[in-house]
Formats: sequence, structure tokens, C-alpha cells
Amino acid sequence: MITEIKKIYSTDFSVHHIILTDSFSNIPKSQLSEKESVYINKLDVEDEVKSVHFNNFEQQKFIISVPKKDKDFLTDEAFRKAGSSLKFQSLSIEEITIYDFTSSNGSLFFAEGMILGNYKFDKYKGKDKEKQLTHIFIYCDNLREKDVELMNISNQATFKCRDLSNEPQSVIDSVSIAKVFKEMCDETGITIEIFNKKKIESLKFGGILAVNKGSINEPTFSVMKWKPENAINKKPYIFVGKGVVFDTGGLNVKTGNSMLDMKIDMAGAAAVATAMWAISKAKLPVYAIALVPATDNRSNGNAYAPGDIIKMHNGKTVEIINTDAEGRMILADALSYASKFEPELVIDLATLTGSAVRAIGKYASAAMKNESCQHYDLLSKSGENVYERLVEFPMWDEYGDSIKSDFADIKNLGDSDAGLISAAKFLEHFVSFPWIHLDIAGSSILSSKYDYSTKGASGVGTRLLFDFVKKLTENKLD
Ligand code: BES
Ligand code: ZN
Ligand code: ZN
Repeated sequence: MITEIKKIYSTDFSVHHIILTDSFSNIPKSQLSEKESVYINKLDVEDEVKSVHFNNFEQQKFIISVPKKDKDFLTDEAFRKAGSSLKFQSLSIEEITIYDFTSSNGSLFFAEGMILGNYKFDKYKGKDKEKQLTHIFIYCDNLREKDVELMNISNQATFKCRDLSNEPQSVIDSVSIAKVFKEMCDETGITIEIFNKKKIESLKFGGILAVNKGSINEPTFSVMKWKPENAINKKPYIFVGKGVVFDTGGLNVKTGNSMLDMKIDMAGAAAVATAMWAISKAKLPVYAIALVPATDNRSNGNAYAPGDIIKMHNGKTVEIINTDAEGRMILADALSYASKFEPELVIDLATLTGSAVRAIGKYASAAMKNESCQHYDLLSKSGENVYERLVEFPMWDEYGDSIKSDFADIKNLGDSDAGLISAAKFLEHFVSFPWIHLDIAGSSILSSKYDYSTKGASGVGTRLLFDFVKKLTENKLD
């Protein structure tokens, strides 16, 4: 169940409600009882978030002040954070109304933070007795119905992304992930083609087939296409997602608990598919394609091994140094396949390297791009808008030196320094179009909840791509 946001046009202060303001001094006196007023007036009007809760039983009332920040995107984020810290879960509230007295119209972001922060992956737990929040009503003159609709879609897509990523590998494997994609595509009118192993063999996707050798499940390759008649672009935007449904490391097996979160090694795949769902649900006039190579990475008597030399889809050969560097093997085939669509831009999202986690942790995704890419600033701006920030790393030629091989064109692992960049340099060998690579290893898997990002899969990427495509089409939305 996901909470829906609705705009309302009349006021009723007898119901559960939130009064949202930039400053306590801005609250119209008529909204407070005398006692409440006296209490509020005693509080300092400071430049920090303040929250007061009056428990009037039948009418829970929260008064929250979120001061403006220097930049709009920081103010929006302050509202999301304030929304996620609202403690309403134990109050049996099914519906609540936000009265927005802010100068920045923060209520939609506040509601977003409440909803995303309240996400739980609890389908395998005994049922909670608490009532669930079904609706957030917003009273705000300047709020556009269209933005409410897009926010509801964004929240649903993010929940879908988290749900899909959090499912264990016993449920989501290379075949069932494609079935989930098909269901999502059928719902909104995206066309989907799912390549089976035979087709993958005929396309000579050597990287995908090599990684899949140790698996008892066949690989799949999903091609999802959204091409509305009113599309503003002729050449497609292509999103590629790493779909390793479980990464054991293969023969270079992962040790200790480092395998524990590896059911989420398909977070990139979940992000691109759910972003496509959102784009099509919102009927955005943009031609977009998502490509997802899917397999698990396991060891058995047939598994690919260090020392193997693999011929890839674009004809280049790769010497395997370490079977745990499998993501780049499957992405490389998907990227070289993307060239057949003559894309405007390709963005890949992948839980690619531990090095990205060590470099920037969970607060950002690592971004790298090639020279022909013109869209990076726009994507980075979307990263600020939805607060899924990007940090750009260099792609200097020298970083490619460590993946030179004595026996093949390149090898699948460089030296231990700057592993996130040498992984991107590897992918660059398979790219012949404007391209942005996002290593989401740190931002997509969380060991604990923070703000409105929840433990396990954060769902990063869905909102980012949705906002990016929205911005591409912005002036067509009115
Ligand atoms: N899926 C992992 C990367 C990863 C690590 C994602 C931690 C999320 C959290 C990837 O396939 C991998 O195993 N990378 C290795 C490569 C190794 C051979 C050096 C890594 O970066 O540790
Ligand atoms: Zn791996
Ligand atoms: Zn992996």
C-alpha cells in the first residue's frame, strides 16, 4: 500500500493536520487555539527546523517550521527530511491534511519525505496492527495538480524499485526479473522484448554468456521501448541497468558477509525499469529505451575462470583476471548493443565497484562521462533536484593503462587504485555514443535507514532518471 497525495481546495481544521511554515511567526493566528498560541510564541524563531505536536486525540496537530535555505533544492530537501522525521506511525492516522503556509510551497516535498521514509519491505513479516496512512491531502494555492500527479507516480516507481531490489535471489532471478518487467511494461504501454539464451548466443553477447556459465538459470536480456507519437526526440535516450540478480563473486568467491547484500546487485536494472514505468505512466513525450542484461554470478563446474579470454559483442577480447568483476562484462555487451539504436545519450546505472563505496559512500553516486556527452549538467541538476547527487570523477587516458592485457585487447580488472575509474575505462571500450556511467554501489545499498532512504535498497536512480526526462520535456507539460 502506498500513500496517495491529493490537492484539496477547502479547509477543515478539525481533522488531523500539519501546519507547515517557514517560521512560527508566519502562522495565521486563527489556526491556533489560545493555549497553542501562547506555547508557540514562547519558542524561539530560529533558523532550524522546529516541530511541535499537539495531541488532541481526535485531532492530531503538528506545527512544523522549515526555514528557507540559500538554494531552492536545499530548501526542498529540508522539507523532505522534515517529512521523514514526522512521528505519526503509532497514532493510527489514516488521513492527514497539510496546510501549507510556506513561501516556497514545501508541502509536496514534505509529503514525499513522509511517504518515502515510511517505506517498509515487510511482506514476509507478520502483519502490523497499526493503521496505514492512505492519504495526504494538501491545501496550497500554488500547487499544480500536474505536479501532484507526477509526485504520486514518482513515489510509486521508487517503491517498485525498492521492492524489486529487496526481493531475495530465490524470488528474483534472471528469468523472473524479466517477467516483472513485462508486467510493468504491459501496465503502461511500453513494448518489451525479452531475449532468451538462444537469442543472446546468436547476438554473440560473450560477456553475458561468460558470467552466466556458472548458473543453473539462463540469462535474459530485456529491451523496453517507450516511443510515444508526440516524442520530442528522434534518437532515443537509452538507460542500461546492471542486472546481476545475485553476485557470489563466482570462482573468486566473496568472503565473510560481503555477499549478504548481493541480491541488490540488480539495483541498476530495477532503477532503469521503474524509471521507464514512471515515464510511461506520466506519458512523457520522450523516446526512451531501457536495456537490462540479467544473470547471477555463481560458480559451478562450468563457471568462467580467471585466465579465460572472452570475445565480446563488439568483437573485442577480454582477459578475465577476477570473476567478481562481472558487472562490467554484462554491461559491456549491453552498451555495444545500444549503438544499433543510434542513441542521443546512453546512461548506465550499476552497482559496479566496492571502490565507489569507499570513495564517496552513500551520499552520492559516482559519475563518469565521455567527451561527446552534452547532457551531464542537466543530469547533475536533476541529481540536486531529487537530492540523488552525482560526483564526477575524471576519465583521463592514464586511468585506462591498468586494464591493458598481455593476452587480450583488455582485461577485466585494473590495479587496486581508483577501481571505480578503471571500471569505467573498461566500459568506455564498448561505447560509441554520448555516454554517462553512474556507479551506484554506495548509494543504492544501505546498511541502515537515514532520512527518507530506507535500509536495504534505497531505490536510487528512479527519481533521478524520471526528473531528468521530465526536465527534457518540461515546456511540453503544461
Ligand atoms: N557487485 C560488486 C560491487 C559492489 C560492492 C556493489 C559492494 C555494492 C556493494 C561487483 O561486482 C564486485 O564484486 N566488484 C569488486 C571487484 C573486485 C574484483 C575487485 C569490487 O569492486 O570489490
Ligand atoms: Zn562482483
Ligand atoms: Zn556485482
